[in-house]
Amino acid sequence: MRVPMNATSPTGLPPADPAMARPQTLRGLPPLAGLCGFEQAGRPGLSVEESVRRLKRHHYALRRIHRILTSRITSEPIYELKMAWSHQAWLCAEQVAAIRARVGEMREPPLGLDKVPHEGLAIAFDELQAAPREVLLSGLYEVVVPALAMALSRHAAQTHPLADQPTVRLLRIALLDLDDLQRYGRHAVSCLVAGPDRAAAQAGLETVRQAITAAGGLDGCERGGGSSDPSDLPARLHSAAPWRHDPTPRRDERFPDPYNMGVNAEVLLYDPAQPLDAKVLMMYYKRLREIDVPEMMAGILAETPGKPWGYYRDMSRQLWDEARHAMMGEVGFASLGVDWPSKVAVNFTWSLGLNTQLTPKERHAVLYFIEQGLMPRTGKRHEWETALAAGNPLAATFQDFDWADEVLHARIGRDWYVSDMPSAHEAVAYGDACWSKVLMNWERWRSEGKTGHANWWTGAYAQYCERHGKTPDPIAAQYAVSYESIRADLKDLSTASG
Ligand SMILES: [Fe+2]
Ligand SMILES: [Fe+2]
Ligand SMILES: [Fe+2]
Repeated sequence: MRVPMNATSPTGLPPADPAMARPQTLRGLPPLAGLCGFEQAGRPGLSVEESVRRLKRHHYALRRIHRILTSRITSEPIYELKMAWSHQAWLCAEQVAAIRARVGEMREPPLGLDKVPHEGLAIAFDELQAAPREVLLSGLYEVVVPALAMALSRHAAQTHPLADQPTVRLLRIALLDLDDLQRYGRHAVSCLVAGPDRAAAQAGLETVRQAITAAGGLDGCERGGGSSDPSDLPARLHSAAPWRHDPTPRRDERFPDPYNMGVNAEVLLYDPAQPLDAKVLMMYYKRLREIDVPEMMAGILAETPGKPWGYYRDMSRQLWDEARHAMMGEVGFASLGVDWPSKVAVNFTWSLGLNTQLTPKERHAVLYFIEQGLMPRTGKRHEWETALAAGNPLAATFQDFDWADEVLHARIGRDWYVSDMPSAHEAVAYGDACWSKVLMNWERWRSEGKTGHANWWTGAYAQYCERHGKTPDPIAAQYAVSYESIRADLKDLSTASG
């Protein structure tokens, strides 16, 4: 007997035919590759068309979250948020890539992945893009990400576990990543959005909620796929005026001297007379200073439209790697007992200079020029060998992976920057030329009172020696070379991150 099609199971789909046989597997082995039982597999699932439709909705949401997070890294002062958003943007970029590939398996081009699925969704994400931090945090982590997780779970439960298994796998992996966003986000909201901030965010949140409701939910499974009546859409609040990317890097209060170029890290690192433990301390500074690479790369991503998704995925990965390098420096300072916010001046002169003086392509050229310079024997290998020679296993671990990541970054540079240039030689020369034209106003910043270029090194090194009961090495203790006249590689890499 056939079950009437209007009888539904808890998943919202027709139940299996009760007359269906349940074959025995050989010696009790799990059936159907362990995906599910016969009863579940005996229920019809979503059509290819419906599964693709939902994937396109998920794709739109993840792509917009990727862009929102990326484009706010530079101007967001709070270091922890910069780092978390670097991570989360990369997770979204990976899931977007996976969904695009899956849609491409199920449909012939054109895939229509660049279409906006519903105007309500456009409004919801435009609002978050332009919203103040409190609305962004609560709107993203309390409204949008939970709704997206629910949409993905619903899709995984309703599509056929055998017929559409590649989609189910993709959704399960995406849910793991979304769980990372949700856990971090809930905690961040509890730390940063409280009392009056929460009340002030309500109007913005309500706009986001209404816009999603008008779209029939993020996946379009409610209200018949969303309203076609424009009067159901909320009025734009934060996105009433077109949003513009803010390229100026900002830092929180743990970075009180961001123009300080008073300590030349590279000269110490390459001086054979300097003790190895001082070099490790300086390498941790170099790592933490890499915070300016996400600040710079975020601007390239935000201001470069129209590239294949592989470009955004690879660049987001590199951005996240650079954020991890910065955090490795942070961990390094903690491991040595050095209080970096009070003892170390981590500047933003590089990201500020590039973001405000160069075009996105010129910035990419500079990045490539610097990174290909990190690969020779004097670069990343030297830092790793220094950490090994210093007998510091943590520093050796960090430098080992810092080096490996830079090899990947050189490849990303070749794929997405050099490939756009007439030749590899011209790609390097152009990067050199672009870097040379960035003005680093060492003297002007001092005369304007932005910084005294104080030699913070002596204090940091003294604290390190004190914490470890060491007699300071006189050569390290008296180190006082700045970036005023001595450049790192005798060219223009003075403040280059790497
Ligand atoms: Fe890099
Ligand atoms: Fe780097
Ligand atoms: Fe690095």
